[in-house]
Amino acid sequence: MTTLPLTPASADHGHLHCGYFERGECRSCALLETSYGQQITDKETWCREILAEAAPREWLPTFAGGVRDFRNRAKLAVGGSAGQVTLGILDQEFHGVDLRECGIQAPAIRAVIPVLADFLDATGLEPYDVSARRGESKFVHVTAAPSGELMIRFVVRTQHGLDVLRSRRAQLIERVPDASVVSVNLLPEHKAVLEGSREEMLRGESLRMNLDRVDLHLRPQSFFQTNTHVAIGLYNQVAEWVDAVESANLWDLYCGVGGFALHCASPSRRVTGVEVSEQAIESAKISAGELGVDARFLAGDATEFAEANLVTSADATGPAGVERPDCMIVNPPRRGIGARLSAALESSGLEHIVYSSCNPVSLAKDLARMPSYQVAQARIFDMFPHTKHLEVAVLLERR
Ligand SMILES: C[S@@+](CC[C@H](N)C(=O)[O-])C[C@H]1O[C@@H](n2cnc3c(N)ncnc32)[C@H](O)[C@@H]1O
Repeated sequence: MTTLPLTPASADHGHLHCGYFERGECRSCALLETSYGQQITDKETWCREILAEAAPREWLPTFAGGVRDFRNRAKLAVGGSAGQVTLGILDQEFHGVDLRECGIQAPAIRAVIPVLADFLDATGLEPYDVSARRGESKFVHVTAAPSGELMIRFVVRTQHGLDVLRSRRAQLIERVPDASVVSVNLLPEHKAVLEGSREEMLRGESLRMNLDRVDLHLRPQSFFQTNTHVAIGLYNQVAEWVDAVESANLWDLYCGVGGFALHCASPSRRVTGVEVSEQAIESAKISAGELGVDARFLAGDATEFAEANLVTSADATGPAGVERPDCMIVNPPRRGIGARLSAALESSGLEHIVYSSCNPVSLAKDLARMPSYQVAQARIFDMFPHTKHLEVAVLLERR
């Protein structure tokens, strides 16, 4: 197995030269014409503007995401025709555009795309034709761990696709021995989504994402930060904040597979993670068991959990048998934590909250709902280079 170098944070503030972009075949990296250094400056200006009302006391230096090789996950549309499939995106007429040389993907993903295209060719499965609503293969999702191990998921339309792929499992594993997880996802509906709800495992259960201090376990339908190097930087920054405020009892809401909670766990700290996906919670429990840390993971809605369990007295426990925290991490989806959870936090009396957000606009709205908190420090993490998206984390202190 090959060990991949992690993308250096700021080694190259230049350009990524991309033939697909220059030929107008793929515009997903919309900012490619702007130098990477300028992209960061522009994101800083924009993010500071959006968070101007919250007036952070201090902005820490932006954590850069790298110019190439930074994405640990590719969601490849299958196009072309049986025997000549393309793996990449579909153009406006729904014709396949092959992106096997895409420079932002982790090298292990780039290396496996041609192998997967050949494999799909050999199956004879028809790519799904969006206009005619006919065909079988819709997408291939590939995730790469730093170790080089891969999770490969084929998204097909019918049971026939599943049966064919299952019958060729051995050939796939022979061609891609690093594929420690292989699954088939069924998406029978003609819908503009990337996967369906039914997942059939062909090999393994979860991909071991070996980060520098913690191994996380990722199952097919769980969320994972798309830039491994930046994710490590984010988890370490938040752990540093949590250490600095000497939290002994920490909650991590929207915990996913436990990235924040497990980086913050320590012999002097109890951590509790809450997440709606039961699969992600199972993964987090496995990681906690391996690390031997004092961590509890519960499946449920973050807002309902907080409303029911943020009891006021320090020595009482809520209905889930969980003690009141002294610090809280929240890392919601793009919509933010919303009015109800913001209100619960505003009246919680907690001294410190860490909010990590992939959407500064919803973050600003949520912060405006929590006037008792001052942003002590803020830091941008460039999780999504060459796009206008970013992650921003803030440490909140009760005024
Ligand atoms: C941005 S991800 C963060 C995951 C995790 N903190 C990490 O670093 O990988 C947001 C997570 O919130 C979960 N989620 C979405 N709605 C939720 C809800 N109402 N209650 C709890 N978790 C929820 C999603 O399943 C997803 O894992």
